[in-house]
Amino acid sequence: MTRFAHLPFACGAACAVLMLAAAAPHAGAAPARPRIASPALRTALGRLWLGAAWYPEQWPESRWPKDLALMQAAGINVVRVGEFAWSTLEPRQGVYHFGWLERAIAEAARHHIYVVIGTPTDAPPVWLTSRYPQVRRVHADGRRAQHGNRRQFSYASPLYRKFCRDIVTRLAERFGHNPDVIGWQIDNEYTNESYDAGTRRQFQLWLKHRFGTLAALNRDWTTAYWSQTYTAWNQIPLNALPGNPGLMLAHRRFVTATWLGFQRNQLDALRPLIAARQFITTNIGGLGWSDNWNHYVITRPLDIAAWDDYVGEGQLNFYRNGAMSDFVRGWKREDYWVMEAQPGFVDWAPINNSLVKGGVRAMTWESIGHGADAVLFWQWRSALGGQEQYHGTLVGPDGRPEPLYAEVQRIGREFKRASAVVAGTRPRSQVALLVSYDSRWAIGFQRQSRRYRQLGVLLDYYRPLENLTHSVDIVSARAPLTQYKAVFAPSLNVISRSLARHLRAYVLGGGVLVLGPRSGMKDQYDRLNVERQPGPLVPLLGGRVQQYYALDAPVAVSGAAGRGTGRVWAEALTPRSSATRVLLRYGPGNAWLAGEPAAIEHRYGRGAILYLGTILDQPLMRAFIQHTLDTAGVRSRFGVLPPGIELMRRVGAGREVVIVINHGKRARLVRLPYAMHDVLHPGRVVRTLRLRTQGIAVLERAYPG
Ligand code: GAL
Repeated sequence: MTRFAHLPFACGAACAVLMLAAAAPHAGAAPARPRIASPALRTALGRLWLGAAWYPEQWPESRWPKDLALMQAAGINVVRVGEFAWSTLEPRQGVYHFGWLERAIAEAARHHIYVVIGTPTDAPPVWLTSRYPQVRRVHADGRRAQHGNRRQFSYASPLYRKFCRDIVTRLAERFGHNPDVIGWQIDNEYTNESYDAGTRRQFQLWLKHRFGTLAALNRDWTTAYWSQTYTAWNQIPLNALPGNPGLMLAHRRFVTATWLGFQRNQLDALRPLIAARQFITTNIGGLGWSDNWNHYVITRPLDIAAWDDYVGEGQLNFYRNGAMSDFVRGWKREDYWVMEAQPGFVDWAPINNSLVKGGVRAMTWESIGHGADAVLFWQWRSALGGQEQYHGTLVGPDGRPEPLYAEVQRIGREFKRASAVVAGTRPRSQVALLVSYDSRWAIGFQRQSRRYRQLGVLLDYYRPLENLTHSVDIVSARAPLTQYKAVFAPSLNVISRSLARHLRAYVLGGGVLVLGPRSGMKDQYDRLNVERQPGPLVPLLGGRVQQYYALDAPVAVSGAAGRGTGRVWAEALTPRSSATRVLLRYGPGNAWLAGEPAAIEHRYGRGAILYLGTILDQPLMRAFIQHTLDTAGVRSRFGVLPPGIELMRRVGAGREVVIVINHGKRARLVRLPYAMHDVLHPGRVVRTLRLRTQGIAVLERAYPG
């Protein structure tokens, strides 16, 4: 039972707190595709947006001008409205009250503020859930969700989807060509599955469609194990309990397909009725790293990706937040929106402390540095009632600015200066980290060590890569890779034959591929690969994992790259080709591992495949990654930066924009390789920066690349 389970509201970001043809890779250049290809993308990514979630339905209309004037004075140019307003928009079945929303949009426009409409389907009204109780979702334990909260609907219910389509169609008819509406957010943080009988039947049908025959399903899931063999489709269970790994992996894919269908229902209603310049997105929760469903699949049909970026307890961990931002950018390999950002503090963490003074501004500019073009705070003003009274806001219950307002106002002034400079630029990376949901799920089902935390392992790679290259893409293992000189795949547990072909082509085309621990153990059905690890890549590697070990104590590791320790997980490797070189070996101490290879490398011309079988301590990891970057010819002109300094680079439209933030507690000097214009202090040219704690510089120079 989690700490929050007793609270009378479905948690949002909080849930995640509790619980990424081989032409030769070239110099880190972005793929040559036209920037901002559609009218919708021009709207979303053509300038910097600063905003807030605004709930006009909670306030008398007479108050709206005051709120909007305060927003305008803070430099806010966009509000998101409507995403929980179903009972106000359709108070009785078939009775629509849209006038207030029209007036709210018009009033916002009078203050030069544009609007994103959130479709209200995350919070169905009580007339719907009481007259049609079958639309309410069923928890894994069989209880049906009650009204009085949000997210109480079944995502698979055809009836619920019909109601969603109706209201979304009506909204699109009314506002699809409103000049002040710039975009649409479908639903709000797709979160909860349902385990009702109808969803179970859909799962069984989905399986039938995928596997064709029960014989194929029984074979691919190895159901002879523990007498699980199925003789009829309707015998197949739908539950969240630990079960057959093949079934559990199929269920995650089904959940993804079901949310995709839920989303398609609204997307299909919107698209034909709205102007081409209005974009469609959804705000993804779970602090970015949630894995309820596959984010690559869900964001594919959307114009842009958007996420909700919260810290929760503690202070900004700029590596974690930077990595999550890069991960979000990788969903569509494009700039994105932060649809919800933390206004100082939240109300769902164990300790809801505030970010330090200047921390909200640092977090906002960090997002821009990593490819966001919009940051909207959640929420504008404290609602007087409702479940989130303690949450941070920009304006208090008395309608007056909170202390944070001034900091946001400063961001507003800075966005005005920087908007035209940042527009048309995006991060560009020479290296990428590869992730896959199949792998995350497969490891998550059977962790083997509670200390094996996949995000932690990813960050162990990310930190040195970020420090050494200052820009890291985090993309699907199936993404085009030829623009990267080196790619790193920690925890790529599931490697099917087709994925292996993709990775092999990359290496033979001159790319450097690093596989981390647990790679290639499983196939696409979550079965063990018979070659051992890394499965179908064993021949390319010219070696394999002989045995894996969950560690209860660190082991010594040393070799050409340096010496240190491996922890949590260790794989003893066996080279099987004379061309395969041993880079690191385990030292004495653990008799299973002593003297065995811990890292091996096989070069192919300019390309190479490396396998690292353990989780190295950070100094040795940095040395190992430096070795890999040297092999791949990756260099950064910005060199080694002082501790706590984050440097982000966006390129495009004939310029280079560099954002530098001092996240540390001490003032720092940062030397640039060349002179740049200081965007926040027009007329000033800098080559050396002195940044105070939470200090930020936005710099620009002409750059043809
Ligand atoms: C998000 C959710 C918002 C609000 C916020 C509070 O997950 O989308 O509606 O609840 O959390 O932090």
